[in-house]
Amino acid sequence: MENILIGTETFVPFLTEEKIQARVKELAAELMKDYEGKTPIFLGILNGAFMFMGDLLKHYESPCEVDFMRLSSYGDEKISSGKVKMLKDLACDVKGRDLIIVEDIVDSGLSIKFMEQLIEEHHPKSMKVVTLLLKPNSLKYNVKIDYIGFEIPSKFVIGYGLDYAQKYRNLSSIYVLKEENQ
Ligand code: IMP
Ligand code: MG
Repeated sequence: MENILIGTETFVPFLTEEKIQARVKELAAELMKDYEGKTPIFLGILNGAFMFMGDLLKHYESPCEVDFMRLSSYGDEKISSGKVKMLKDLACDVKGRDLIIVEDIVDSGLSIKFMEQLIEEHHPKSMKVVTLLLKPNSLKYNVKIDYIGFEIPSKFVIGYGLDYAQKYRNLSSIYVLKEENQ
């Protein structure tokens, strides 16, 4: 893996494809065990979670359904705007169902909080959250994240679904922004 230069900024390799895939497989196995005998709905949060959701579900070899919601919070910046907009709502009926929200990354927790409040109005039977990445030191909202791929430092990352101004989502590994003193 080589560094990625974007203007004057440098992103350095952080999580390899092998490491990500191994962890995604473990998460799928854990979910299959916990949801045995049930048919959960996996609710992916677009755009960031598309790649994680695809890989996770390839390893989830039990009955399940799939839906997506689209939220936007960052605009084209590296820091959150602090506001969340819903750009695409649920399409399925989640009433009385077991829901698993699939996120790429939890940063402040605002998006998850917003989602949970919206979804609770539809009365699912249960609702859990799986995220590939969590920045524990950035959390500002009281949210419970049930399944976590990797806990990472509060630094900006790209790749594997995560964007910088909508680009780099298609990278199969994850890179982190190099800071001055690195
Ligand atoms: P939160 O609402 O502050 O928890 O932020 C969650 C959303 O912000 C994620 O779903 C991502 O879309 C985006 N985000 C947070 N941190 C990063 C990052 O390091 N790189 C790219 N996107 C990020
Ligand atoms: Mg996201």
